[in-house]
Amino acid sequence: MITLSSVSKKIGARVLFNDVQATFNVGCRYGLTGPNGAGKSTLLKIIMGLEEPTSGKVTLPKKVGYLKQNIEDFRDDRLVDVIIMGNPRLWNALAERESLYDEEMTDAVGIRLGELEEIVSEEDGYTAESEAEELLTGIGIPKDCHYQKMHTIPTDRQFRVMLCQALFGNPKALILDEPTNHLDLESIHWLETFLHDYKGVLVVVSHDRHFLNAVTTQIADIDYETLIIYTGNYDDMLIAKTAARDRMEDDNKSKEKKVAQLKEFVAKFGSGTRASQAQSRVREIDRLQPQELKKSNIQRPYIRFYPPEKTSGQTAFRAESIAKAYDHTPVFKDLSFDVARGDKIAIIGNNGKGKTTLIKLLASVFTPDSGTIEVGHQVQVGYFPQNHHDCIDKKGLETSFEWLKKQKAGVYDQDIRSILGKMLFSGDDAFKSVSHLSGGETARLLIGKLMLCNYNVLLLDEPNNHLDLEAVSALAWALEDFKGTVVFASHDRDLIQKAATKIIAFEDNKVCFFDGKLDEYFATRK
Ligand SMILES: Nc1ncnc2c1ncn2[C@@H]1O[C@H](COP(=O)(O)OP(=O)(O)OP(=O)(O)O)[C@@H](O)[C@H]1O
Ligand SMILES: [Mg+2]
Repeated sequence: MITLSSVSKKIGARVLFNDVQATFNVGCRYGLTGPNGAGKSTLLKIIMGLEEPTSGKVTLPKKVGYLKQNIEDFRDDRLVDVIIMGNPRLWNALAERESLYDEEMTDAVGIRLGELEEIVSEEDGYTAESEAEELLTGIGIPKDCHYQKMHTIPTDRQFRVMLCQALFGNPKALILDEPTNHLDLESIHWLETFLHDYKGVLVVVSHDRHFLNAVTTQIADIDYETLIIYTGNYDDMLIAKTAARDRMEDDNKSKEKKVAQLKEFVAKFGSGTRASQAQSRVREIDRLQPQELKKSNIQRPYIRFYPPEKTSGQTAFRAESIAKAYDHTPVFKDLSFDVARGDKIAIIGNNGKGKTTLIKLLASVFTPDSGTIEVGHQVQVGYFPQNHHDCIDKKGLETSFEWLKKQKAGVYDQDIRSILGKMLFSGDDAFKSVSHLSGGETARLLIGKLMLCNYNVLLLDEPNNHLDLEAVSALAWALEDFKGTVVFASHDRDLIQKAATKIIAFEDNKVCFFDGKLDEYFATRK
């Protein structure tokens, strides 16, 4: 069980949530929801003791698994080690034991080794590696990768390793922050089944409606400066939340009407023969004061990719017989295709099939091992990487305003402010350090750059990751409306259906080029 007692968090003048009382029970699966920047990750960090609340207290079980998002920090670690790091007490003991072996054996060293041995035994250290390997195999990572370093495997696989890290040591509560972001539909399905079988308390943040509906038994929603727990899945929550709000608004309206009538009476008879009646009306007016309703935090960004200054040539890209392999394992070979001006192409397919590789080749981040990619006349590429850190130094001290301003020479401050406003960084938010931005806010800032720079070709690698539902639908409209060329990789069916008119599908053994919408592609596959 996880209990929050009077937990509040304020950042500067902004209240994320105030005086939250909540209990998360064993055997229930909670979806933690709210728009980008609502404070979901912050609440999880408070629960995990990684961040202090402004006030209040949290109680939780001894062992809690937590899915971290900072994969970059583990790039030089071996997969099995990353998983064992999920138990810091064990990991630190193992590391210290290793270092003591290199030292001269004194009495002090001997005593310390004994203590460490005890910790290793208490934390099931002797079976740690085999447990780690079992988890990795279970999540679909082949045995020969288990002792490789993180950066040698594709990003989506790295995310699976992080998930195993959270599951290591059989935790009584499991906390996952956007676990589906880098997973394909098959892996999401695997995760759904896995989470159904999980016996502890589950708290999972997600912007994926389908996933939440499939997994959760309760929704804890951050809005109106508090957290409210609704029974049921995400769709149930939406209905209950709207109904509760409507009831409160109706109640307030009828109170306001009643108060207006009472005030009229008091004004008329306040000092006459009916003064005592008027007095009781005054008391009733006090009692009836309408409840102050907090504003909802749901907002929609305004995304538009403005017509490019120069259009590109007829052909944006021409790929001829391209091949790419990692460590001699081919991702694809002998691939030839054209991307014409005005194409809206979605790249789909399971994790690890080569979507990111193809986008990076088009973006000239990679070069093909063989074959050529010809970039068309006057093509100006705007690239949105899967890993936001590739573009924004999240350890840097820059503000969002400064970061955006340096993306385009000679741009006026008011143009930057205008784009930041559309991307929901209004007022002081424009001067928030990029290191503090939430996942969705970081994605919005990257989109802001694409809006600012008037590119005529957009190459987007899973742009919907981290974005809330409002932002994804705004993005879908913007891509549909865009007058240039778009190639984007995504697992989001709604986004692909709306924005793409062509599909490049990485199927099991081949790459299929399909001229039509996603539903038409699926229809031909049935
Ligand atoms: N140290 C800080 N200084 C200023 N603002 C901060 C700081 N830390 C967090 N914030 C802000 O607090 C808000 C909540 O952040 P948090 O990461 O919890 O959001 P989230 O609900 O997880 O959003 P997302 O869905 O995008 O992941 C954001 O607006 C973020 O920019
Ligand atoms: Mg978050």
